Amino acid sequence: MTPTALQTALPEAVSAAVRAPSVHNTQPWRFRLGADTIDVYADPDRLLPIADPDGRALRLSCGAAVLNARVALSHLGWASQTTLRPDADPLHLAEIRVTGPHPATPGDEELFTAIGRRHSNRGPFMDTAVPLTARARLVEAARAEGCWLDLIVGPVAQNMVAELVSTADQLLRATPGYDAELAAWIRERPSPDGVPRDAAGPTPEPQDLLTRRDFGGPARRPGRDYETDPFVAVLGAYGDLPHDDLQAGQGLQRVLLTATAGGLATSLMSQPVDVPAIREQLRLGLHRGAPPQILLRAGYAVATGTTPRRPVAEVLTPIPTVPQAACR
Ligand SMILES: Cc1cc2nc3c(=O)[nH]c(=O)nc-3n(C[C@H](O)[C@H](O)[C@H](O)COP(=O)(O)O)c2cc1C
Repeated sequence: MTPTALQTALPEAVSAAVRAPSVHNTQPWRFRLGADTIDVYADPDRLLPIADPDGRALRLSCGAAVLNARVALSHLGWASQTTLRPDADPLHLAEIRVTGPHPATPGDEELFTAIGRRHSNRGPFMDTAVPLTARARLVEAARAEGCWLDLIVGPVAQNMVAELVSTADQLLRATPGYDAELAAWIRERPSPDGVPRDAAGPTPEPQDLLTRRDFGGPARRPGRDYETDPFVAVLGAYGDLPHDDLQAGQGLQRVLLTATAGGLATSLMSQPVDVPAIREQLRLGLHRGAPPQILLRAGYAVATGTTPRRPVAEVLTPIPTVPQAACR
């Protein structure tokens, strides 16, 4: 395949990047295009001051966007190299540099097709078990991005995780300003960002094993209707620096795209990693040296549909023009 001209490929890669998941669908990113580069910046105006004061979830979201851009460039026939935190600017999260033409592999194409189909599905999944081969592919996808993915298997491990999710959710809800911040990102369609009420899943109920964040979804009839043996996994990187958050974001997105390509629905849970003490307990429970970054749930379900994104033009930062005087 002849590679798409770079001037066309770079904005197309940004269109794919913005399809990434982001905390509360804040889309906390900006992109700057060069002749053969895409620079990814954090948008500090879209940080969640209560739920994410250190910007960890923001960086995870931007890391996921980086992975999408890389996959899109491969699909368009370009090889690229990514440098995380390329300079001292804390907002400059990544530089993706195109290194030359390279034919896309079938694996790249599979992931690229999944970008437009992936979305969070917060509803109940079927009770059909996720096969071992699919589980292994998810673990391998995390490894391919320098991350780990621990599968939470059996009632003892599931109850441990469920307990930590529930405690973290209670602690967050008791934090002043948390509920208001969450409510501010619940949206009615059409809205270019935030979580649409129709994507929230049914209202959480006390009998649910896994406490979901309450995005104001429709009420549901009482009774258990979530899967009895949920497939839950915890993803992490090998450190706890801003660089590791970006690494984890790429690992997360490769896992999610691999799941989507394999016909699995997914949703994310981050309450336990948003509370430092609970995050540490989860790390200890998993016997990991580095703290976990996010939890995900996967299974078979009817697709629920994608969520909106801001137009690409809104997230592109023009390259600053050098003032004439400075050229003298
Ligand atoms: C770092 C991070 C944390 C997230 N935490 C949660 C969460 O706790 N609960 C939830 O339902 N979704 C969570 N999500 C999913 C986002 O809400 C979702 O990606 C966003 O609303 C966009 O929707 P989409 O995934 O359907 O594209 C998280 C996503 C990211 C990247």
